[in-house]
Amino acid sequence: MRDAADTDAARLDQARIALAGWYAANARSMPWRVGPADRAAGRRPDPYAVWLSEVMLQQTTVAAVEGRFRRFMARWPNLGTLASASDEAVMAEWAGLGYYARARNLLKCARAVQDGHGGRFPQTEEALRALPGIGAYTAAAVAAIAFDEPAVVVDGNVERVVARFFAVTAPLPGCKPALRHLAGRLAPDAVAARAGHSPGDHAQAMMDLGATVCTPRNPACGLCPLRDGCEGRALGIAARLPARAPKAPKPVRLGHAFVARRSDGALLLERRPPSGLLGGMPGWPGTEWGEAAPDPDPPLAADWQTVAVEVRHTFTHFHLRLQVHVATVGLAAQPARGAFVPAAQFRPAALPTLMRKVWDAARDPLAAP
Ligand code: ADE
Repeated sequence: MRDAADTDAARLDQARIALAGWYAANARSMPWRVGPADRAAGRRPDPYAVWLSEVMLQQTTVAAVEGRFRRFMARWPNLGTLASASDEAVMAEWAGLGYYARARNLLKCARAVQDGHGGRFPQTEEALRALPGIGAYTAAAVAAIAFDEPAVVVDGNVERVVARFFAVTAPLPGCKPALRHLAGRLAPDAVAARAGHSPGDHAQAMMDLGATVCTPRNPACGLCPLRDGCEGRALGIAARLPARAPKAPKPVRLGHAFVARRSDGALLLERRPPSGLLGGMPGWPGTEWGEAAPDPDPPLAADWQTVAVEVRHTFTHFHLRLQVHVATVGLAAQPARGAFVPAAQFRPAALPTLMRKVWDAARDPLAAP
């Protein structure tokens, strides 16, 4: 007689094996990835590439990251070169990817590994977690993917697969601890890892399954290697999971941005304070962003013209609307904040997306007679 616990263990083993088979045939090819066949043949991923890709992939899609990852690797191909790069160069390379704290933390971490660990990443989840700028997700992902440690990697894709497989109907974010626990039941443990079940392949298989089969809308359950054991599918509720607590609508914040061009073409820019939104990134001088419209407070006295169309941008927790003001000033202009950047050195691509939108709104009005 098999009891319920045996049946459950058999269902999980069967699912893990079916997932590994599916991944062997369907793994997506990615520039930082060692595919399942190469991994089985003994090839190991480059921990630096895995770590960099995992940091880039937080909050950003694989499609958006691939090209940026290649550029970054071409410029700083290993930890040593990145650890000795300047903050400004790394921030400029990160421009447009958003969530700039990631880039600042990336550098902190690179320097800590270079100085404190002889340039080699530690291998365990716990030791990785102790590095500056490495959170729970990144520590688990690097431990599993780069070193095949039995760490449980849980991102949004994995949460969806697990919520459906175990028919978890409690809403996110409250059910996150339960999903993490259940993800751990599905993942290879230390014993399974020693027996050859790769935690790195399992983690990436879960992510790929969530991205390509167990998708948020219209999941392709007919193609899913986990379909036989999937409780959400058996109950006919898979596509509705995971449930989510209703989100409060995002508030709107208002502010002003000032684009001053000197008669020789130089543009007035400032570096934002190191912490906070867009921290450490270059930008146009502006006001605070408030729920009530702040007074415009230009960085120098000039004949400011207000651009007709406001700039809109959405951050994680609020929508921003900026009024853009432009002015052309003389060579003797002395700004209270920021510094003029010669036209030949101005690179819109090194600006964060919000500041690039401000530039796009300002350039024609500035050129107008
Ligand atoms: N998302 C984050 N990390 C990933 C990885 N290693 N493979 C696929 N998707 C991911």
